Amino acid sequence: MDAQQRARYLEALGIDAWLPRGSSAPAAPPPRGAADAWDALRAEVRACTRCPLHRTRTQAVLGVGDPHAQWMVVGEAPGAEEDRQGEPFVGRAGQLLDSMLRAIGLARGRNVYIANILKSRPPGNRDPKPEEVASCLPYLKRQIELIRPVLILAVGRIAAHNLLGVTAALASLRGRVHQFGELNTPLVVTYHPAYLLRTPADKRKAWEDLKFARNVFRELTTST
Ligand code: URA
Repeated sequence: MDAQQRARYLEALGIDAWLPRGSSAPAAPPPRGAADAWDALRAEVRACTRCPLHRTRTQAVLGVGDPHAQWMVVGEAPGAEEDRQGEPFVGRAGQLLDSMLRAIGLARGRNVYIANILKSRPPGNRDPKPEEVASCLPYLKRQIELIRPVLILAVGRIAAHNLLGVTAALASLRGRVHQFGELNTPLVVTYHPAYLLRTPADKRKAWEDLKFARNVFRELTTST
């Protein structure tokens, strides 16, 4: 699918402008020196003291996966196990996320990059505070600029709200293609795996979301 076809496809889904105003070109290729940019980002996040969470974390958790991935999953923040191991989604919720990815033919580290809104664990797994998100979101934006995924899957309310700048109920954000950031990266919302562990009846809805995301991805990457 070329840039114009992609624009037409997203328009048909109800998205009126996927390119920045005045632009007719697809997103530029990743900048040269991407490896250096990743090294710099990794070092910066490791040493980050932008918010008080650096005092209570074991380590910052940047993300995991293929830096050339076409899919990006964004969750909320590291939990206890992630804080210990330094990798996102390695606890029970992570195991469910891996199953969800497998269900649509993906696997951790293969064409998927997994990251969170926050890089440091909030004590007691409380919700991130707005000032923590404001401090941390620039790191996620840099990750997205470096990876330039075809599609972002936002898992859960915290990811969806902070990426989209809305406070609508998660249910109302499902089943639609949103866009994130200046690159207007297509973004689909689904439930957080930790929520699905608590509410298994909603796994069926999450499966609908995953099939929807897979279809959107296929449309975006298939040449016609
Ligand atoms: N929940 C998240 O949102 N992210 C993780 O990394 C782990 C659990």
